[in-house]
Amino acid sequence: MWWKRRAVAAPPSQALSTQGILQHAEPDSWRDHRFGLSKPRWNRLKGRAFWVTGAGTGYGRAIALALTAAGAQAFITGRRIAKLEETKAEGRALGIDVELCHPVVADITSEAELAGAIESIARQTGQLSGLINCAALPQPDAGRYPLSELSTERWTELIQTNVTAQWLTTKAALPLLTSGDEARVLFLTSEAGWADTPGFGPYNISKAAVNTLGISFAAECKAKFPDKDIQINVLVPGEARTEMNQGSEISPYSVVSMVLALLSHPVEGPNGHFFHRDGRHLAFGYSPSYVKDILVR
Ligand SMILES: NC(=O)c1ccc[n+]([C@@H]2O[C@H](COP(=O)([O-])OP(=O)(O)OC[C@H]3O[C@@H](n4cnc5c(N)ncnc54)[C@H](OP(=O)(O)O)[C@@H]3O)[C@@H](O)[C@H]2O)c1
Repeated sequence: MWWKRRAVAAPPSQALSTQGILQHAEPDSWRDHRFGLSKPRWNRLKGRAFWVTGAGTGYGRAIALALTAAGAQAFITGRRIAKLEETKAEGRALGIDVELCHPVVADITSEAELAGAIESIARQTGQLSGLINCAALPQPDAGRYPLSELSTERWTELIQTNVTAQWLTTKAALPLLTSGDEARVLFLTSEAGWADTPGFGPYNISKAAVNTLGISFAAECKAKFPDKDIQINVLVPGEARTEMNQGSEISPYSVVSMVLALLSHPVEGPNGHFFHRDGRHLAFGYSPSYVKDILVR
């Protein structure tokens, strides 16, 4: 993995793993494997609306197209419309009905642009069933010792994108997410969030903050909306070939099976837990691993 220049701290210990996660499902055979979902779970996604940030490339694109394949509407956000259109073109090539895929251009570090994005989504759908926070920046190229040498400007840009914007996006989406009875939110983190790799300190710190942001949002929403079925979790997507990691040979569709398993979960599912795309349920600090298989029901 690009940020691993030496062995990193092992990811948090795990107690359980969900069986049946298909990391290597070919996207063009989606009708056959449904990315590991049973028919009822696949059909649960149909007709729902999800907002996917960072959906013009990488993991966000793969997740948005898989949701659309299942018959969900995907609102796809990034700063570059050309990349969002490429997402639709890739969907068309996979035989997916991309009329369900709606580009919403926005810079998620801007509250004004986020407000505009939510307004546009609200105009097109009365309610959001889920938000998948994928947009992020990689470690800025700042030499071997960024914690000693990175400029304040680059640090601020990274933290604003990888942390503050994740908070702002989720906060902006909450009214639409909670206008129905259930909502699912995912934060994409990284093993970097538990690592101390020299040269990658600022990125590691941004992902450690996302870990806490995700589980804190989960706890707060459980307290604030006790009558709603809100499931907010943090997912380690692992390594794949994306715009920020061009050295990998692994397909970004490798994350889709676990993402759909979490987004399609019926009531009383995990809230405030950590998962890995390979199905592992992770534990971290005071946060225990989720104890049930997430694909059983
Ligand atoms: N790929 C890996 O090996 C790997 C490993 C561990 C974790 N991850 C995590 O997985 C997530 C997805 O990353 P990826 O690998 O798919 O990388 P990617 O292809 O580089 O995607 C990042 C996306 O974020 C968007 N973005 C960046 N800043 C933005 C802003 N201010 N406003 C709106 N959109 C913005 C970019 O689009 P625009 O430039 O058009 O805005 C881009 O589409 C990230 O959280 C990343 O940290 C990736």
